[in-house]
Amino acid sequence: MKIKAPNHISGITPYLPGKPMEELERELGIKDSIKLASNENPLGPSPKAMAAVQKELAKTNRYPEGGGYYLTQKLARKFNISPKNIVLGNGSDDVIGMLTKAFLIPGDEAIMPSPSFLMYEIMVQVAGAISVRVPLSSYSIDLTAMAARVTSKTRMIFLTHPNNPTGSFLTEEAFCSFIRKIPEEVLIVLDEAYIEFVRDASSLDSLSYLTRDQRIVVLRTFSKAYGLAGLRVGYGIMDPDISSLLHRVRQPFNVNSLAQAAATAALDDVDFLEKTQALVHNGLNYIYRTLDKKGIPYLPSQANFLMIRVGDADRVYRKLLQEGVIVRSMTSYGFPDYIRLTIGLEMENERFIKALEKVL
Ligand SMILES: Cc1ncc(COP(=O)(O)O)c(C=O)c1O
Repeated sequence: MKIKAPNHISGITPYLPGKPMEELERELGIKDSIKLASNENPLGPSPKAMAAVQKELAKTNRYPEGGGYYLTQKLARKFNISPKNIVLGNGSDDVIGMLTKAFLIPGDEAIMPSPSFLMYEIMVQVAGAISVRVPLSSYSIDLTAMAARVTSKTRMIFLTHPNNPTGSFLTEEAFCSFIRKIPEEVLIVLDEAYIEFVRDASSLDSLSYLTRDQRIVVLRTFSKAYGLAGLRVGYGIMDPDISSLLHRVRQPFNVNSLAQAAATAALDDVDFLEKTQALVHNGLNYIYRTLDKKGIPYLPSQANFLMIRVGDADRVYRKLLQEGVIVRSMTSYGFPDYIRLTIGLEMENERFIKALEKVL
């Protein structure tokens, strides 16, 4: 082809999502498979969100409300902050993209844990900037090593709290001492896609830093605990000076009207959120107990997924597929003896355990 993209674009490895269930079932000739691979909510969307989408459907001839007025207002009330602290995104992915667009130029550096969520690296590369990947230590984010990698070119640091795929979390104490080592002009992005599942009391309270520290941006999403992954809606909470810069690069109608209506209604559906949290916590407890009994090692997790040590992960992944159970092999994340399991419904967790027993 005569048309050439710059090297930093053609060199990107595209994000590889899991295959749709229907596709896998057709390929393998199986039925009734269960997907425990993408950290989704097994309860479906919140019923209140579904009702709101139904109501909004008839108005989809109109453009969405551009700044997400009602959703932003509601989030501001929920967190007791100003709407100016909030930027909505087409998923929190979109907010990651706005941050890298607004703050990085070619040659800049962004520090991130590795392995972690792959979109940081992709978005940093789109901006022509450099990803500085810092290996985890004992499956947790190594804040000391990350602080040590700061140079005069560092503009941004990504922290995943809890981390995907290891489920590790950051303590208040560790974060507090970390930020003291970071220069004032470096943005600290705390990606809290799974924050609603955290149970450990020593966990960092990110929002308490907002009023004290301009550098901190917190990312949240409706994709996990609120069950709205397919609608794509997330948000960032940050200082108004930062948000005003993100609004300059934000697409004017980046969150569609159905997503806005669903998310606004989902915030009122406390029952659904609590049911989701109980399901995940009970599911994790069940998996821990069962694996303990069988002597199968795993990483305790603060999210809605966990990593389980199974030996040859690619082989176990393929064998589980034949049993109709879809999980993720962690080989491409650098953990060739681990699979990642998303907590499902009670029956799905039981079916996973039965299939794992058979496969191992
Ligand atoms: C750590 C982390 N951050 C962000 C996202 C993206 O979430 P969203 O659906 O809001 O774009 C995910 C999705 O899996 C994730 O695991």
